[in-house]
Amino acid sequence: MNPFLKNLYIRQPEKKDENEIHQIFSIVINDAFDKEPNFSDPQEIVDEIRNQKNKLELFFSSSGEEEYFLLTEYENQIIGTLSFGKPSDIIIKEIGKEAINSPALKSAYVLPKFQSRGVVKMLFFEIIKEIKRRGHSQFYFDCGYALAQSYYLKLFGEPEVFLPHCWGQNCHHRIWKCRVNDYLLK
Ligand SMILES: CC(C)(COP(=O)(O)OP(=O)(O)OC[C@H]1O[C@@H](n2cnc3c(N)ncnc32)[C@H](O)[C@@H]1OP(=O)(O)O)[C@@H](O)C(=O)NCCC(=O)NCCS
Repeated sequence: MNPFLKNLYIRQPEKKDENEIHQIFSIVINDAFDKEPNFSDPQEIVDEIRNQKNKLELFFSSSGEEEYFLLTEYENQIIGTLSFGKPSDIIIKEIGKEAINSPALKSAYVLPKFQSRGVVKMLFFEIIKEIKRRGHSQFYFDCGYALAQSYYLKLFGEPEVFLPHCWGQNCHHRIWKCRVNDYLLK
């Protein structure tokens, strides 16, 4: 394992981390929307940050039952997050009832200067153990960010659902359906 990955420390968030995690959401979401090809409405950024803060709040208020978060620290700084919880409306609409009781991965956010260095991949292999521990055999993941979709095509392969031009010209949405055991074995 490379020295950077060896020095990552993965754990659940504590209440004292809340402000730092909010900062991560704000920095990463602003940066991600800046890089999106057809982004135009700043209100989307505000809504997405609020949505992520609500998920984190649900993690604290439900003690990880309704929404489960992990974060990564590097040299005492939080640099990334990943969570799972109830599938989004778009997953349920496209997949149907079978998706309702399966978890969906969410909140994959890594500070720009630490992206593409294996942070989310490491969080992913850790969070999958918790999904398994809760008795699930499959999980979903959906993504509407153009850049991030290229990462996930690499990580998860071809999606179950492809929604072309869902968010405007050339802004597609993809939904992956994955078997837990495929990722525990890797
Ligand atoms: C998308 C994001 C979460 C990925 O996290 P990350 O820590 O940068 O990803 P990793 O380094 O763990 O990469 C995972 C895989 O994608 C690949 N990858 C990384 N950067 C890539 C790039 N620029 N293009 C294509 N593939 C890439 C990696 O090579 C790795 O696959 P490999 O092990 O086969 O090499 C992160 O870049 C991010 O926060 N982006 C902005 C916010 C966002 O879009 N979040 C997603 C919301 S759905």
